[in-house]
Amino acid sequence: MATRPVRYEIHIRPLTRLIDRDNMSWAFDLWDYDQVKTNVDAILLRTAADMPPLPYGGPWPAEWVAIFQRWKDEGFLRLDLGTVDTTGYTATRTGDSVTLTGRGKTPSSGYRAWLEGVLPEGQPREYILYWEPPVPATPAAPTLFRAKATFPSPATVTSVTVTDAAGRHVVPIVVAPAPIAFVGSLAPVQPALEGIGATHLGTTPIIGGSVGRYRLGTADFDVFSDGHSIDIVAPPELRDTIWKGIALIAKAGRKN
Ligand code: HEM
Repeated sequence: MATRPVRYEIHIRPLTRLIDRDNMSWAFDLWDYDQVKTNVDAILLRTAADMPPLPYGGPWPAEWVAIFQRWKDEGFLRLDLGTVDTTGYTATRTGDSVTLTGRGKTPSSGYRAWLEGVLPEGQPREYILYWEPPVPATPAAPTLFRAKATFPSPATVTSVTVTDAAGRHVVPIVVAPAPIAFVGSLAPVQPALEGIGATHLGTTPIIGGSVGRYRLGTADFDVFSDGHSIDIVAPPELRDTIWKGIALIAKAGRKN
């Protein structure tokens, strides 16, 4: 089992339900990092004894109290909000599915970066760009990341919002092909692409994977791998040629 730091947004906030928050709002906001931190000792005492009350589901199991205690002992860690580069976010629609992506650089190579979906209280969807710093910290070395989220979305929805360190962004959804996506390993991709005449210009490590740049004719395209799936981001005129080249190795078949 992985030993890893406890983070408020991932491991603590989900322990409290909407009814917990509503019933305790007279005392503090159980979904607010600062207020939970301020009231940590009272919460530890009461969740081990009689909170939530029995008619509302009953007190926490010992493991939940223990992880809450560990969060306190480790210094109330939480996630950082990330930022993307000047290209911003893109949201592309393919049928009833929308893919949201953003890329940029994390401060060092040990980070994780992802787009976290916030429960939609209606449409449009809301995401948060989280960065999780490494513990212990690693030397500064800006490292590329690409964060991606795909979600079902009716055609009437025309935007998605993302909150990051720079603020709240309303990202318009454009109708365009999402990346060519398939499940598989990167190893057979390069020879398959060379088989259709693509030249490999180089590979760069990114957080959680790598990105390879290729040239086919006069156009360039990128191949992202996160270790278990591949996304190929290519100009529209190259897509069919690339797909023919990789079809045999793409286990799960074309998604778009
Ligand atoms: C994980 C969920 C919950 C936590 C961490 C929690 C925590 C606490 C804490 C720390 C207090 C003492 C506050 C103070 O005196 O300033 C308290 C009191 C109280 N809580 Fe909760 N609570 C939770 C869920 C609930 C729920 C679902 C109800 C439903 C009615 C509830 C009802 C009350 C009431 C009525 C009091 C005041 C009476 C008393 O202190 O026993 N709580 N709770």
